Amino acid sequence: MNPAAVHSLRRFALSVPDLGQAEHFYRCFGLDVVPLERGGLSVRTAAHGREVARMHHGPRKTLHHLSFGAFAGDVDRIAAQALEAGARELESPAEGEPGRWFVDPDGRLFHVTEDENRSPKGRSTEELIVHVGPNAAPERNLEVRPRRLGHVMLLTADAGRTANFYVRALGLRLSDATEGIVSFLHHPHGSDHHVLAFVQSSGPAAFHHASFEVPTVDAVGIGANRMAEHGYKQGWGLGRHYAGSNFFHYVRDPWGSFVEYFCDMDYIPAGTPWEPRKVAPENSLSSWGPDVPDYFLVNSEA
Ligand SMILES: [Fe+2]
Repeated sequence: MNPAAVHSLRRFALSVPDLGQAEHFYRCFGLDVVPLERGGLSVRTAAHGREVARMHHGPRKTLHHLSFGAFAGDVDRIAAQALEAGARELESPAEGEPGRWFVDPDGRLFHVTEDENRSPKGRSTEELIVHVGPNAAPERNLEVRPRRLGHVMLLTADAGRTANFYVRALGLRLSDATEGIVSFLHHPHGSDHHVLAFVQSSGPAAFHHASFEVPTVDAVGIGANRMAEHGYKQGWGLGRHYAGSNFFHYVRDPWGSFVEYFCDMDYIPAGTPWEPRKVAPENSLSSWGPDVPDYFLVNSEA
C-alpha cells in the first residue's frame, strides 16, 4: 500500500518581534492582513481570502509552524506515519482548530488537518504571455496580487535527512536534490515541483523563504519594483530556477528571511512516475539570474 500523503501546504506561521512591520511588509507584497481573534495576524490572498500565513508576536523571527492539508480519510494514517518516522504529538496549540499537531526530530512544529481545498489543479501557463503582438508590455501600475502559497524552504543541518523524515511522515516525494546542499519535495496528488524544500545550513533549523505564485513574468518583475518603492530593496532576481523551472524574484523581509514571487513552476500530475534528478551544484540555485547576494543563504535565526 502506498503511504498516505498530504495534498497541500496550507500555511506557514512565523513568530516576529513587530507585528506592525509584518503587516506592512505583507500588504506591500500584495496580500491582505487581518487580526486574529487571539492575537497575531492572518495573512490571506486577496482573490480567495484564503489564509496562507500567520504572524505571532515573539522576541525574534522564528518559524512557528507549518500546516498541511489532507483528504478526510488520510489524516489518521499520516499521523501514524509521522509517529513512526520519529515525530512527537502535541496537544493543539491553536484552540478550536481541528487536526493533529506534531514536533519533528529537529523541533519544528507542524499541523496536519482535513482540508477540502487544494491547488493548483495543473500548471498555470495560460496567462504567461498576457498579450501577443505590439504593445504587449504592461503599464507600470499593474496590480500584483499573489494568488496562492506555493512552497516554503527551510534551513536545516542535513537537507537529505530532514527531507527523508517528511517523505516518511507526510508521504511527500523527492523531486530533485543536490547532495549536501538542497532537497525539493512534492506530494503525489498533483503538485507543484516542490511544496517543501530544505537547504543545508549550519545553525538552528530556520525559515528561509515562502513563495507565492503570480500569473506572469511581468507580475514577478513589477512586484519586485513595487517592493523596492516601499523600501524593500534587498533580494535576488529576476532569474529562473533549474529545479522546478519557475521564474523568481526574492524580496528580503525585515528579519533577514525572504518571500518569493514565482510563476510557471513545473507541475507533476497525480500518477506521474517521477525519477528524482541529481542536480549538479552549479544548477542548484538557478539556471540563470544575477549573482546570488552574500546574505541570501545566511541563517537569519542563528
Ligand atoms: Fe522558492
